[in-house]
Amino acid sequence: MKNTLKLKTYDINNDLADIRTAAEILKNGGVVAIPTETVYGLAADAFNEDAVRYVYKAKGRPSDNPFIVHISSFEQIYSLAKEVPESAKKLAEKFWPGPLTIILPKRDEVPYATSGGLDTVAIRFPSHPVANKIIELSCPLAAPSANISGFPSPTAFEHVEADMMGRADAICDGGDCNVGVESTVISLATPVPLLCRPGGITLEQLCDVLGEVQVADSILNPMKQDESAPSPGMKYKHYSPKAQLTVVRGNFEEFRAYADSSYADAVMCFEGEEEFFRNKITVTFGQETDPLTQAQRLFFALRELDEKGADKVLVRSPSKEGVGLAVCNRLYRAAAFRFVDAFKRPIVGLTGPTGSGKGYVAAYLKNIGCYVADTDLIAREITMKGAPHLKVLAAHFGEDIITADGELDRKLLASRAFKDKASQELLNSLTHPEIIRISMERCIDALENGATAAVIDAPLLFECGADKLCNTVIAVTAPKEIRLQRIMQRDNISEEQALARMSVQHDDEFYTDKSEFSVRSYAPFDVEKELEPFVDKYLKAQVT
Ligand code: TXA
Ligand code: MG
Repeated sequence: MKNTLKLKTYDINNDLADIRTAAEILKNGGVVAIPTETVYGLAADAFNEDAVRYVYKAKGRPSDNPFIVHISSFEQIYSLAKEVPESAKKLAEKFWPGPLTIILPKRDEVPYATSGGLDTVAIRFPSHPVANKIIELSCPLAAPSANISGFPSPTAFEHVEADMMGRADAICDGGDCNVGVESTVISLATPVPLLCRPGGITLEQLCDVLGEVQVADSILNPMKQDESAPSPGMKYKHYSPKAQLTVVRGNFEEFRAYADSSYADAVMCFEGEEEFFRNKITVTFGQETDPLTQAQRLFFALRELDEKGADKVLVRSPSKEGVGLAVCNRLYRAAAFRFVDAFKRPIVGLTGPTGSGKGYVAAYLKNIGCYVADTDLIAREITMKGAPHLKVLAAHFGEDIITADGELDRKLLASRAFKDKASQELLNSLTHPEIIRISMERCIDALENGATAAVIDAPLLFECGADKLCNTVIAVTAPKEIRLQRIMQRDNISEEQALARMSVQHDDEFYTDKSEFSVRSYAPFDVEKELEPFVDKYLKAQVT
């Protein structure tokens, strides 16, 4: 148990004495909680191994999870990083001082205790004047967020006090943190810049400077068991209040309907919505359209849930745009990736044989506000140059199906995959689930973003079982003669070729028997009228 000193550090002019005290303690190997513009940090001299080790202990943090080193001038980067590439300079020029952390290969002088055993080091130049002054008067500071490991990061002095009294040598009161979520972490130690953690500097802003940026899968998804974390922090449970959170996907009315019929005792919703949940504990985190305030409020809100004694909490899922990506990343983790879909808007299967006019129906649905996932396009996407799915195919059909410049050799794959039934089934079993997974993911995203309905446009909807994921199915068929003409025209092929293609397809009943709605597309074709029963049942009655 430490005897923790409380310091007041609101202002670098008026509170200079306390700021000096903090710097002295740090220079002497002590541990001090300091304010930054993102969240409070628990700081120690980055080059002092013992001091850094104590920080792991004070936080209860696993020792393979590295710290960010905070600097107060760009030049200090050279005392930490072995090389400073042009891209780092560009980022620094644009976003430093500010909520951006850059990972680079480390110099030998940086202890492995600071880098969590890695050969890279994370560096950040914060914009908070007090943080800068303390660094300037002491040294580069290793500082994780000043919370007990696994708890929400502290964005107010009260949070630091609650977590760090008795653990730190001193805690500085600098008021509330502005940004509210931790810094964006980008690695420049990878072949392509990799976004490891979203934060106050957005993906869009990084792309503007760097061009290509990869996004770590772990940002919006739980880590798979055999996956190694690009940023070790992503492995651990994080930001959790004691209450159990569930993220509810849907618009406000859908959320409300879901919450009304749920036994959850609390909701975390956007400002202005709380009056609709009078029989539950409510906590808000900014307005629906204001991700900056959502970020600022998020960790307050999570702690507030516990203060109010919430047990089971339903949370409105925010948008992932801009800083919203950081909000979702923290919120999903806080909820341990527990989701429910409250959508009353449907996911619709759209299917039919080639030349049936399915594309025409899809275009109409798009026009009336539906999102359409085109499985033909997705099939092409997952076999494009550089697509991770190519490796899966190569593992089964031979590495040589990928050419030297990374393209798929479609002819070679076809010659192997279509040589017998078993090979063809293997190809299907490798591609269909991936296509359906991506389609569903995009449909859910579209519904979250307000689409009237989400449509999976799939010629093989039934064959690959995707119909079971849909609320309803529309089959589009057309008389053989009309289909023949359409195919010949569309693909510029002879009658024999078109007939050959049609001959391997199912007859109309295959589609119509299994579908709730059937659309027969003659010319002239009144698509609006044909779809009326579907629109009446699924779109008109919908909660908006
Ligand atoms: O805004 C912030 O970044 C705050 C304030 C105090 O500056 N700090 C903060 O630190 O959030 P912490 O330790 O809670 O999170 C640092 C994250 C962790 O996810 C860690 O795994 C990752 O950065 N990280 C640090 N060094 C790394 C490295 N060399 N390679 C990959 N990830 C690294
Ligand atoms: Mg943290």
